[in-house]
Amino acid sequence: MEFTTIKGFRDILPDETPYWQKVEQSAREVFKTFGFNEIRTPILEYTELFARTIGTDTDIVSKEMYTLTDSKGRGLTLRPEATASVARALIQNRLYQQGGVQKLFCIGPMFRHERPQKGRFRQFHQINAELFGDRGPKSDAEIIYLAVSLLDAFELRNLTLHLNSIGCPKCRPGFRQKLKEYLVDRSESLCADCKRRAETNPLRVFDCKVEGCKAIVQEAPVISEHLCEECRDHFSLLREYIQYIKMEVVLDPRLVRGLDYYTRTTFEIQTEQLGAQNAVVGGGRYDGLVEQIGGPDLPGIGFAIGMERVMALLMERQGRKAARPDLFVAALGSQAEKMSFTWAQELRKRGFWIEQEYAPKSLKAQMKRADRLGCKRALIVGEREIETGMAIIRDMETKEQKEVPLDNILEALVSKIMGENAYNAR
Ligand code: HAM
Repeated sequence: MEFTTIKGFRDILPDETPYWQKVEQSAREVFKTFGFNEIRTPILEYTELFARTIGTDTDIVSKEMYTLTDSKGRGLTLRPEATASVARALIQNRLYQQGGVQKLFCIGPMFRHERPQKGRFRQFHQINAELFGDRGPKSDAEIIYLAVSLLDAFELRNLTLHLNSIGCPKCRPGFRQKLKEYLVDRSESLCADCKRRAETNPLRVFDCKVEGCKAIVQEAPVISEHLCEECRDHFSLLREYIQYIKMEVVLDPRLVRGLDYYTRTTFEIQTEQLGAQNAVVGGGRYDGLVEQIGGPDLPGIGFAIGMERVMALLMERQGRKAARPDLFVAALGSQAEKMSFTWAQELRKRGFWIEQEYAPKSLKAQMKRADRLGCKRALIVGEREIETGMAIIRDMETKEQKEVPLDNILEALVSKIMGENAYNAR
């Protein structure tokens, strides 16, 4: 048997990981400026947590969860998203007792058994932000600015914010009834799933990708015209707050999102560069979720950024630029090998990226390896250099060579040749 990754799972190889590290690092810096603290929750949770919050009628819960049963017969599920887990952690650890607003972020893998395609995987990664404890539109605006600031820090461009309000438990039931009547009247033309959804959870028909259903949805009543006064005011104040956002904003009355816990604001940040999987960020308000799983009546709003989609956009634009080692230490003869081995360790302690050969090799072979690794320069030391007390430093691009005294060689290398700009500090 040939061992490979599972379908829809993939290795992130060393030529891609620098992009991940940079994005994670910039994200942490931006989160700090918004006062968000990191939380790390388990990857496996009781299935019921996701069923109860995301909704049993959603694609995620009905078709896409990786579920197993433990020895006591309880269902366990690999998290398909993070919001439910973060809300569970907030309640279980009583983080809300600290009072005020709780602002949490987490970064990590999620699992959904979807059909893999460009930008869609079965294991994928999200950067999640969740804000608990405020109901007003200013926190919605701040969350949207946070998402925009993160994408800006990743240097992503040409994105569009799609925004909607899907109402609250006061105005949504009336709208649901209207939508249900509209859909039931046309149920002959709906797919089998949507025929059922029209009765049980009509808003979910907005997510359907079947062409016939999409056409029916285009003419369907929209929630924005059925909002109660409070929801209308909330939404219009939010729009005032975000009018200075430096991104194209589209009011999208059909943006309901594929999770049942949303109330009022829903939003996505989309790109045209990734084909069908165009959402880089998805988020919204979820004022009933914490209470629904046994916590206090605590409102919340958040979003998740799809990291694979961010990386795809970055790599498309920048190509894969490899970082380069500062120095190749080429040694000839056992004495030089030992001396230079120690120098390599000393230079690494100062933050430089040093490469060397492990088995004894000819100078030509060592230079070839230094070139292949893209080293900026090489230090050459053999028996003759030890005798004369002068090593050779070679610029691998220009091939120019200079002599450096072996006395105090580390200081000479650091101050005169490589500069104080160590790889790790860059
Ligand atoms: P979501 O829209 O399901 O929302 O996912 C958010 C983002 O994760 C998507 O916009 C996309 O970039 C990425 N994503 C989702 N599924 C996949 C996949 N199969 N492969 C690659 N990327 C994917 C949520 O997960 C909500 N929990 C967001 C949220 C947080 N709402 C409030 N707080």
